[in-house]
Amino acid sequence: MKTILAIESSCDDTSAAIIQDGWLLSNVTANQEVHKKYGGVVPELASRAHQANIVPVVDLAIKSAGLKISEIDGIAFTRGPGLLGSLLVGVSFAKGFALANNIPLIDVNHLHGHISALFLKEKGVEHENPSFPFITLLVSGGHSQIIVVKSFFDKEIIGETIDDAAGEAFDKSAKIMGLPYPGGPLIDKYAKKGNPKAYKFTKPKVGDLQFSFSGLKTAILYFIRDEVKKNPDFVKENLYDICASIQFTIVDILIEKLKNAIKQTGINEIAIAGGVSANSGLRNTLRNEALKNNWKLHIPEFKYTTDNAAMIAITGYHKFLESNFAEQSITAEARLKDI
Ligand code: KG4
Ligand code: ZN
Repeated sequence: MKTILAIESSCDDTSAAIIQDGWLLSNVTANQEVHKKYGGVVPELASRAHQANIVPVVDLAIKSAGLKISEIDGIAFTRGPGLLGSLLVGVSFAKGFALANNIPLIDVNHLHGHISALFLKEKGVEHENPSFPFITLLVSGGHSQIIVVKSFFDKEIIGETIDDAAGEAFDKSAKIMGLPYPGGPLIDKYAKKGNPKAYKFTKPKVGDLQFSFSGLKTAILYFIRDEVKKNPDFVKENLYDICASIQFTIVDILIEKLKNAIKQTGINEIAIAGGVSANSGLRNTLRNEALKNNWKLHIPEFKYTTDNAAMIAITGYHKFLESNFAEQSITAEARLKDI
């Protein structure tokens, strides 16, 4: 029996999970409320909160898996990309844990983790793994990429954003409307009650597989500024329609690029991953498009779309099986490439 403990601390969630022989036994996450009032993650506060949360979170993950520390065979951690101060807490904890318990250390790329969430297995939850090769639309607060996943360890990024990520487009639009951070889930919630065609925002003109969201953010900023000049209550009175229109535009951009990737590669096994894959507009549109175009679609469990250690644990488990271990001299990498 092989048991892996995993730590995720790349941004503002402190998370620990246990996987045994590929099955998820526990996943515990402490969210950091402290950033809400600042309209975004404050790195210094995030590292401090990780420092405070990490031991209780790990303790709870081990206990709720019904295990003892001595039963853990390896410890996986997020090496990057992410906020350096946040990553350092997880990396240092993992190193100390590995040394103290004389078990291997396994470094995981956070983005690889998001993709691996598609392979998570839980007792009692029906699940089908994607088969290789498949295309992943990886959309989070820090990244927007189209990736051809050829095998568990062989991936090729074929499209990327040239500026903001899709999650940033949601969060920055929300901030313009005076909504708290992170605004993505709120826009999703309000969009359900609004008309997606109420306001039209132009889509960026970039390469077939490229994303650009900074122009959209500016267009929304000017649009709201002009409308508020005419009616100070414009946002309040039209919140649902504005949210629905913003979400419609972002989802439309994502689907268009995905379709380009499907056309160029000829691969019609499709997956989504990352925090924005929680978006109900994106999930529903993709389900409809999949039916229409005969794609085989894989959508991660809602709770494993945003940052969590379960996705790091499943990646770490696969690396463990290949004896792909890290040295004690390994460091966190805020801009880690090479997924
Ligand atoms: O993957 P994630 O937890 O962290 C990063 O690796 O960045 O993604 C967080 C991002 C945030 O921008 C958040 O607003 C967005 O995912 N997000 C959503 C939804 N849930 C989370 N965006 C749109 N709709 C949602 N339901
Ligand atoms: Zn993430």
